[in-house]
Amino acid sequence: MNKINRREFLKTTALTGAAAATINRLPVLLIPGDIFAATPLSMSANKPIAISSGNGTKALELAMSIIKDGKDALDAVIAGVNLVEDDPNDMSVGYGGLPNEEGIVELDAAVMHGPSYRAGSVAALRNIKNPSKVARLVLERSDHVLLVGEGALKFAKIHGFKEENLLTEKAREAWLKWKENLNKEDDWLPPHTIEETDIGQIYEKYLRHYGTIHMSALDMNGNLSCVTTTSGLSFKIPGRVGDSPIIGAGLYCDNEVGSAGSTGRGEANLLNCSSVMIVEWMRQGKSPEEACLLACKRVNERCREKRLQDAQGRFKHGVTFYAINKRGEYSGAGIFSGGTYLIHDGTEVKRKDCAYLFKR
Ligand code: GLY
Repeated sequence: MNKINRREFLKTTALTGAAAATINRLPVLLIPGDIFAATPLSMSANKPIAISSGNGTKALELAMSIIKDGKDALDAVIAGVNLVEDDPNDMSVGYGGLPNEEGIVELDAAVMHGPSYRAGSVAALRNIKNPSKVARLVLERSDHVLLVGEGALKFAKIHGFKEENLLTEKAREAWLKWKENLNKEDDWLPPHTIEETDIGQIYEKYLRHYGTIHMSALDMNGNLSCVTTTSGLSFKIPGRVGDSPIIGAGLYCDNEVGSAGSTGRGEANLLNCSSVMIVEWMRQGKSPEEACLLACKRVNERCREKRLQDAQGRFKHGVTFYAINKRGEYSGAGIFSGGTYLIHDGTEVKRKDCAYLFKR
């Protein structure tokens, strides 16, 4: 059930026919032995590159300038996304992000450093507008990888972060509008079967979204790092954690191979651990585009709940994947056409169309 139509896939994907055919023959599940059999992409591009979600133009410009100063990719990607975390007009990340269902902004973020194979993340962090910086501190100044909620906040304060109200007037008004229009389609679901369709998650009506920024970069020394940061699903149940702070789901990098991350419906990605899968598919020789499309295919095929599918049985929510490899090749991909991502190739930021499984 719910298989991608092969003809549709071949017709609509941006891949060449041969590459697409290779993708369709691939098993969706990774066979553990393949990890060890695969050849790492040890050749570095020798030129810097950075990729981000579509809300990262300025972030990429800053990140690339830092990379060109010879700094580490981790410094660059975090400084880049800090711009978006600080921007009150981006209502999907950091300060000004849309709050949870109680009107409180809770942020998730994670970072991963290729050269040292370390990661840090925070989830459901309140009152600190730069969760990516706190995630970096978890990496550098603790023996842990993921801190959540009150513990993450205490950790941030111990390291000198000041609490502030992250709810802007614009976000508060948007939240109030949503709350005033509550009905049976909220996140609190009664007992139900996977066959039911008229239940939960009416996104378009209330402008709910999963906006997020991901950035991966390859620095002048051929080292990779990445970051993903978000205020998560708007109006979520307090305590809800998405994919962004989960290493392997919202981001993953391997300094020998490549780096990947995601935006969009975190629940789908949490169930598929797409970022680590994308990196492992690249290790096995897939291009970033092929690997991102395999992740889309896996999300689509594994969805069994009718309420999350369109009339053709396709996963109807947005997920977008971003990947760069050690050679400086890159791509973004989503399940449906129409998505874009940004790339900075060392000269300028360019907006590119995402590859996709299905034409909208
Ligand atoms: N991908 C962001 C989230 O689901 O929270």
